[in-house]
Amino acid sequence: MVYLGKVLVVFGTRPEAIKMAPVIRELKQVQDIETVVLVTAQHREMLDQVLQLFNIEPDHDLDLMREGQDLYSITTGVLNGVREVLEKEKPDLVVVHGDTATTFAASLAAFYQRIPVAHVEAGLRTHNKYSPFPEEINRTLTSRLADLHFAPTDLNRDNLLRESIGDLRIWVTGNTVIDALIQTVRPSFDFGSELSGVDFNRRIILLTTHRRENWGSRMQQIYQAILDLLDTFGDIEIVFPVHKNPIVRNLAESMLGESKRVHLIEPLEYEPFANLMNQSYLVLTDSGGMQEEAPSLGKPVLVLRDTTERPEAVKAGTVKLVGTNRERVFNEARNLLANQLDYHKMARAINPYGDGKAAGRIAKVIVEFLYARLGAQ
Ligand code: UD1
Ligand code: UDP
Repeated sequence: MVYLGKVLVVFGTRPEAIKMAPVIRELKQVQDIETVVLVTAQHREMLDQVLQLFNIEPDHDLDLMREGQDLYSITTGVLNGVREVLEKEKPDLVVVHGDTATTFAASLAAFYQRIPVAHVEAGLRTHNKYSPFPEEINRTLTSRLADLHFAPTDLNRDNLLRESIGDLRIWVTGNTVIDALIQTVRPSFDFGSELSGVDFNRRIILLTTHRRENWGSRMQQIYQAILDLLDTFGDIEIVFPVHKNPIVRNLAESMLGESKRVHLIEPLEYEPFANLMNQSYLVLTDSGGMQEEAPSLGKPVLVLRDTTERPEAVKAGTVKLVGTNRERVFNEARNLLANQLDYHKMARAINPYGDGKAAGRIAKVIVEFLYARLGAQ
């Protein structure tokens, strides 16, 4: 046995945790490396739900989340907090995920100490600086800082090549979200009492919204379209696990709180959530991760955004970008509720985001990288 080195895995939000869990699992199985987990806890309850489900016990927890935190406070908090852990742990590689403030600031902290960075879910782009905001810039800057780039798809790889990232530093692995999803979804999942108020004999529309660029009037229009849909279709139920952000909560409660057949519920744990998606008729969301999960479950998605960094499923026909205009959202959803032919054209299981083995590929490259590094010393 040769000791290859120490890997520090850093993440801070719910989606990062879901997508890093399979990577941590694979890394922990490699005896020749030490895997240390640092959570910035940019999210708290929503993060803890995932840590619990996947049995991840962080070695370091910065516990940064504050109600109504802004981009400055979270970014500087991560930068300074990660700095201290790096000084203590002295890892040989830092692994980050995606496009959050944690991703960018942790990569910068590692760069300042000349520690190499591996970026999981690299190369997603809209090429629009402000959409999604601030994720497009977070991930672009992270690509500049990273040394190993794990791209989910060929298209993501092409985006990186266009930005002069060396071909030999990019690996197309698939998205680790599919690894997590496969471990989680079962055909006859029992929701227990958690969703007891939901009438599964009706058609379920799963709704989530949280994007910063949708805060305010754009989110109002989305919720108005939901009310229009409820007026038009008596056989639908809206299940809306509401993000913990008070900006989203207050608006959702004030506009949808009184409506029958709308279930405003707490963020669900990943297991019931993924299984609920699997039993839904239609998904309306501005989420990034759900654009990857729903297509692999054969669920049509209307994306409540003007841009997407995940065009693969749009091209395949399972996802449609509809924006946030009240009439447009209503018309697109109405069509899928009323027109079975159009619905079935969209409701096909496709898998552009991976085969469920992405994390294994990532761990293998990390081992090879550490091995080569050891040889070079
Ligand atoms: C963050 C990421 C976004 C990602 C999203 C996933 C940034 C700038 N944004 O956005 O890229 O898509 O997470 O959900 O990195 N809150 C709680 N409990 C929680 C989580 C959040 O109360 O467990 C509340 C807090 O008041 C917090 C607020 O939500 O201040 C916003 O959290 P923050 O991480 O800053 O932004 P998100 O909108 O969640
Ligand atoms: N999710 C969850 N519970 C919920 C809502 C979402 O577990 O109540 C999962 C979802 O399946 C996906 C991830 O959280 O894997 C997406 O998180 P979010 O939409 O907050 O972030 P994004 O993907 O847009 O960054």
